[in-house]
Order: sequence, then structure tokens, then C-alpha cells
Amino acid sequence: MQPSRPVPTPPADPAAAWASVSMHLPRAHGLHATQGMAATLGLLGPLPTLAAAELAAMDDRGRLEAGLDVFMVEAFLRRHRAVLSSQDRGALETSTTAVAEVLDIPPILTYPLYIRENPSAPERQRRFTPLAAEARFIRMHRLIEDEMDRLLPVLTAVPVAFDPLGALEAAMPALRAGFRLINRTMAGFRSPTRMPHHDFFVGFRPYYDSRKDPETQQVILEGPSGLQSAAYRMLAMRIGYRDASFDRWTDRLMRHQLPATRAALRSARADRDDGRSLLALCESLVGPLGDLPPLHPRYAPQLPRLFAAARAGAYVSPDIEASFARLNLVLGAWPSGAAHAPWPDAVPIPRPVDASGERALTHLREIEAMIFGFQMEHAATAADQIGTEHGTGGTSGVEFLLLATFRRAFPLLWVDL
Ligand code: HEM
Repeated sequence: MQPSRPVPTPPADPAAAWASVSMHLPRAHGLHATQGMAATLGLLGPLPTLAAAELAAMDDRGRLEAGLDVFMVEAFLRRHRAVLSSQDRGALETSTTAVAEVLDIPPILTYPLYIRENPSAPERQRRFTPLAAEARFIRMHRLIEDEMDRLLPVLTAVPVAFDPLGALEAAMPALRAGFRLINRTMAGFRSPTRMPHHDFFVGFRPYYDSRKDPETQQVILEGPSGLQSAAYRMLAMRIGYRDASFDRWTDRLMRHQLPATRAALRSARADRDDGRSLLALCESLVGPLGDLPPLHPRYAPQLPRLFAAARAGAYVSPDIEASFARLNLVLGAWPSGAAHAPWPDAVPIPRPVDASGERALTHLREIEAMIFGFQMEHAATAADQIGTEHGTGGTSGVEFLLLATFRRAFPLLWVDL
């Protein structure tokens, strides 16, 4: 007689057992749709308990993956409103608390874990669904993050170089190539073939939802969102972006970052505030900004010039403005009721510069167009993919993103005198 096939038993090591549960999520996603929650819980098996002592014995990589596993399973069960046995509830609670404490982040999946720390080998990558678009979503996000990482030291070096204007000149080819790649990849998120709307919106995005109070539906913990991209925030600060809304979000998102990233964010902010940014380089050429605000509704009429600059550098898709029109988005409309700094009594007059200074100012305008292009591709993507829905990071969504149309790193280079 043939021996019957052994039923696979879950690994005894709780971290390996959590990895095994989370690797089952793509199958669980399909099973839930066809056979419901009881069969799904049967597939996932009893939830393991991962305690602080076990996490303490692991290396950093192991702890990050354990966090990813536990929080993804938590997000899966929350989305499908699973009713757990008291034993599973206890195991989930103990494990989420333990990984949150050891990683020093809130007990919910974060963008840094899902996008940056997710193993890139396809057979080890953690996903919620079997959809190719989800694997692509992670890969394309990661490509943007990696490219931003490559540009960070380039930008950091310019303001502290012995010859900052020469360093800016030397940095331009890398910045141009980097932002073209980043912004083209961002445009790919609204491609119906690379990122089919239904797969994204109904398939995997609901797993990124925030945790809400069941009674009031108020957000208790923000879900993963590009808002938590530290690389973008550092890049923006190295350039000189510095309005109160930007800084408030950076502070608020600090708790979702891993400790080493928090230190890097603080250092980028300190450098910016101590005059080590491209904004300081700009001021060394044209004079101080004074009270000219970095974000103001009066900047709306500059939009055609910014679009033209972004198009000239290939930092936006050629049809970007048509995309906004098709999506019925009115650009340059300040959100009603949103506060802003007062307009100064006097706008500083830029100092005249020599030819090398003029060349540097042209480069700075182009760098502003790179970020503007990123924001516009991004806002169009968000409008296309989520419409009027709130963001998973706890903002109003597209309306919040369109604030970028009023944001300037170098306002003196765009202002009409
Ligand atoms: C389908 C794709 C995407 C959608 C629907 C989307 C949507 C959003 C939304 C609604 C927000 C507002 C914050 C929130 O409440 O979540 C946001 C913020 C943000 N996202 Fe995305 N996003 C997408 C892709 C990306 C990608 C690929 C990146 C690249 C790193 C990214 C980077 C950012 C950044 C940096 C912010 C903060 C912007 C700011 O502070 O001005 N997003 N995103």
C-alpha cells in the first residue's frame, strides 16, 4: 500500500510560521472570493504567536521580514472582517504588538516595509494577491525609490561643494536622467495594461486601508502610502522645499519610518534649515527670499510656465494637461478654506547675475520642473486610479496632491514682479 502523503505541518519556529501564513495570502485572496472566510481561515491555519523574546534573538533582516509578514496578515484579515477564534485573536495581538515594539513603528503595515523591505526575489516577495499588477506595483515603486536613493548623494553634495556652481553643472546629467526615469515610471501607474484599474482598486489597494474606528469610521492608524516615502521627502528637502504643510506631514510620518531613516530625515531637515540646500545656493545668487512664501495661491498663474519647463525637459507625459482636463481636474484652484501665509508687503527684487550665475539659475528652474513633473504625473495617476477617494495615508487624496501646484522651492525664480 502507498503511504498517504503527509499533511504539511506549519514550521515550529514562529517567525517561519508567520512567513508561511503570509506566503499563502495570494491563494487566500482567491479562496476568499470563491469559498468564503471559513475556508480561507482553514488555509491560513492557526496563527502563530511571535513574542518579544523570539524577535530579540533574530537579526535585523529577520525582524523586518517578520514585521512585514505579521502586518500583511493583519491587513488581510481586517479587510475581510475575519472573525477569529480567541486563540487566533490573542496570537495576532501578541505578534503585532511585539513586532511594532521591536521595529519601533505603529502596529500596521507601512510603505517602508511593503515597498522597500519586501524581498525582491519573486518567490520570496510578499503579496496580497496573485495579480501580476500587484507584483509590478511593488517593483515600479521600488524602482522609483532606488532611483531617488541614487540621486540623494548627488543633490546633497552640491551646496557643500568647494565650487557649488561647478558641482551643480556636473550634477545635471544624473538629475535629468534620474527624473526622466522616475517620472516615466510614475506615468506607468496609470497605464491600463501595466496597472489595470480594477486590479488595483478592487484587487489589492483595499489591503492598504487605514485602521478605522468601527463606530465612527475615524482613522486610528494610517495605512501604507507614498506619503511615507522617505526618499522623496529627503530629496525635496535637499532641494529646499520647506512649507509648513510639507514639514507637518514629515513630522507626522516620522513614526512610520524605521529608526535609521528617521535619523536621515532629521539630518536632511537640519541641513536645509542651516542653509545647506539648493535653495541656499539660489539665494546666494539672487539674494534672500525674505517673506516670499514657499506655498501660495498667488502662484497659480505660473502653471503654464512650469508645465512648459517640465515638458521641455521631458519630465511629464506630453498629454499631461489633456489628462487633467479629461479627469475634470481644475488646476490652480486653491482648496477652499485652506490657510496660507500672508503675501509680503514687498517682494524682493532678484539681484542681477553674471553668465555663470544665469546658467545656474536655469538649472535650478529645471530642477523645480523635475519635481513639478513628478507631482503632476502623480496627481494624474491618483485622479485616474482613486478619483475622489481619500488617500490611504489619511489625506483628502487628489485635492491634497494638487497643493503641489502652489509649492515652489525657488519662488523668486518664478514670481512675476
Ligand atoms: C496608483 C498609484 C498611486 C496612487 C493612487 C497614489 C496616491 C497617493 C495619494 C492619494 C497620496 C496622498 C496621501 C495619502 O493620503 O495617501 C499620495 C501621496 C504621495 N505619494 Fe502616491 N500614489 C501612487 C503612486 C505613488 C508612487 C509610485 C510614488 C513614488 C514614490 C508615490 C509617492 C507619493 C508621495 C511622495 C506622496 C506625498 C506627496 C506630498 O507630500 O506632496 N505615489 N499618493
